[in-house]
Amino acid sequence: MAQKSIAVLTSGGDAPGMNAAFRAVVRTGINKGMKVFGIYRGFNGLLKGEIEEMNLRSVSEIIGNGGTKLYTARSEEFKKKEAQERAAEFCRSKGISGVVVIGGDGSFRGARALTRAGVNCIGVPGTIDNDIACSEYTVGYDTAMNTALQMVDRIRDTAQSHDRCSIVEVMGRHCGDIALQTGIATGATAILVPEVEYNIERDVITRILNTQKTGKKHFIIVVAEGVGGVNDLAKYIEQRLGIEARATILGHVQRGGSPTVRDRVVASQMGYRAVELLSQDIGNRVVCMRDGKITDLDITEALDMPRVFDTELYKIAMTISI
Ligand code: F6P
Repeated sequence: MAQKSIAVLTSGGDAPGMNAAFRAVVRTGINKGMKVFGIYRGFNGLLKGEIEEMNLRSVSEIIGNGGTKLYTARSEEFKKKEAQERAAEFCRSKGISGVVVIGGDGSFRGARALTRAGVNCIGVPGTIDNDIACSEYTVGYDTAMNTALQMVDRIRDTAQSHDRCSIVEVMGRHCGDIALQTGIATGATAILVPEVEYNIERDVITRILNTQKTGKKHFIIVVAEGVGGVNDLAKYIEQRLGIEARATILGHVQRGGSPTVRDRVVASQMGYRAVELLSQDIGNRVVCMRDGKITDLDITEALDMPRVFDTELYKIAMTISI
């Protein structure tokens, strides 16, 4: 029987732990007797034929590195059917029967399209946002939260010294998970997320005033990217309450850095699972974490799932951050 060949790519925004997933795919594939190719720069690289065969040492010394050694891109071109068919044809010409796609929702749409064009694909959730509905966890989320935590702790030091209010915007696109977790962990007086309707008077001003009455003189407000408007909020707080306020947008610092233990381990488990599926000629699946266990789901089913925000955790945050 001919030796099976598979490939792996990273796509969309990079996330700490993508290298660990890439490493797991390469090593699992080789251990199962397969040839494993790395595709550089996501689906764009696939269209340009930017591939290279990997060996066990190609993925040495990368498990602790942030970013993605495979580089990444968001591909507009790959949304076109003609491009998808061209990519499938290219895979066939190289004998590649399956591709592991490490990325977010948009990347999984690309994976589904490539599967439909005849090349089995498996999605592995890699994004700091934790916004993949079918999975309780996405690779990169833990590191990003911990980076945001460290940054807000530092901002707190200076806010405290000046009796100021610091408003910090964290990433997450339309998802408030990084904001909620960071807000709880830093004792933020208010947390604004896109999933929960908010009113600035009730959810920020009144909370600051109530906390002030208990003697507190500095305040942290964590705002999710999907809510935004931190500069305007800082101005409003200054005018409305006469407290000095400063806004910080943490930005891409949250995307970098050495992945945490959790990101490295989950990425390794997910990469392994993806190759197990491809070795059985199974495609069109997303590897996910459900009830703390690694499993997999049909891509369409996964993409159609509604995201559930942890309102109970939000309630806890609002109760104890006073
Ligand atoms: O999806 C990851 C993410 O960092 C989001 O949190 C953010 O909205 C977006 O990517 C930023 O994208 P870019 O890297 O294109 O600026």
